[in-house]
Amino acid sequence: MEAGETRSGRIWSWLDRRVGLADLEKLARKKEIPVHRHSIWYYLGGMTLFLFLVQVSTGILLLLYYRPSAEEAYESIQFLMAEVQFGWLVRSIHSWAANLMIFTLFVHLFSVLLLKAYRPPREITWFSGVGLLGLAMGFGFTGYLLPWNELAYFATKVGTEITGAVPLIGPFAGRLLRGGDEVTGATLTRFYGIHVAILPAAAVALLGLHLYLVQRHGMSLPPGVERQGGPRGLMPFVPNFLLRDIVGWLSALAILAVLAAYLPAELGKKADPFLSAPAGIKPEWYFMFMFQTLKYLPSHILGIEGEIVGIIGFGLGGLFLLLIPVLDRRTARGEPGRLFTWIGIAIIVYMIVFTYLGYTASATK
Ligand code: HEM
Repeated sequence: MEAGETRSGRIWSWLDRRVGLADLEKLARKKEIPVHRHSIWYYLGGMTLFLFLVQVSTGILLLLYYRPSAEEAYESIQFLMAEVQFGWLVRSIHSWAANLMIFTLFVHLFSVLLLKAYRPPREITWFSGVGLLGLAMGFGFTGYLLPWNELAYFATKVGTEITGAVPLIGPFAGRLLRGGDEVTGATLTRFYGIHVAILPAAAVALLGLHLYLVQRHGMSLPPGVERQGGPRGLMPFVPNFLLRDIVGWLSALAILAVLAAYLPAELGKKADPFLSAPAGIKPEWYFMFMFQTLKYLPSHILGIEGEIVGIIGFGLGGLFLLLIPVLDRRTARGEPGRLFTWIGIAIIVYMIVFTYLGYTASATK
């Protein structure tokens, strides 16, 4: 025991002299989490991070068998599901964790919005978060096509058509994404490159910035808690909060295992570009509120095509979301203000209602 301790002590000091472990330890010990009635929301970012790591590890495993071409993609996944040991499980976890990650990401975003954690000096933490949201949606959009099945093929056709309708840059962006005028094997190869190289590289960089800023500024206090005289106390991050985080992660893993085992990811029929689109083409649930909104718009608004007005609207909506820390001047000055709380609630209600309509009122148009 004694010898083991000194050996580990020796390894520690060897590493410390070379990489500065003691500094890292000091940093970890310094981190404290305020305890108050909204502390539960501090777990959501860590949960999203955990699910992102599940995506990276299962994604690497999928890469061992996946082949990114129109001729082989579908067959390689069929082989993975039927022949490779636990292949179906890895694919199902990748698919479920993607959905769960986007869900926790939205909950994290809205909790941060309603608790006004974007106040100075955390504006850049917010900006990097909105960037991560964009990347997560990009992961979802590009990953959906990779099995090269019928549903994904036609959903991508619709999705890239919408991209193509964006004023000015649309036609170029649409062709760049598709690798031509149609969704073909070239699109699949591009989406694959974006999904496994470009987005992961961008996500790691942006996530690094996000986590560095969280570490630098510490956890924010909601204005309401601040006005009531501050938190009840402070909890050390290591080990108290981290252990609680880990309980959450293990629970998420258990939920993932149950979902993947009982509702494994489906594959459907192989894409056939020569067939017409089957009924009920739907995007992933997190695009549904936008998809449904576009359906409800009249064909022309003030002489402009309704769909284009909708797309411009979503673009401006995204810009508005990004700029909230700059636009909410009252909160930045430390004055109480309800406007952005109501805007946040309105966005949540709008997203829920239109997603619901997307699944229930699909025959309207
Ligand atoms: C892949 C996506 C993301 C990951 C992995 C992530 C991770 C984290 C983590 C671990 C924290 C510290 C714990 C916590 O407050 O929950 C955090 C804090 C924060 N995040 Fe995120 N985040 C992501 C996306 C976002 C998004 C979409 C936004 C908003 C647009 C955002 C804004 C913030 C802000 C403002 C804080 C500081 C909270 C505070 O100080 O109280 N993040 N994030």
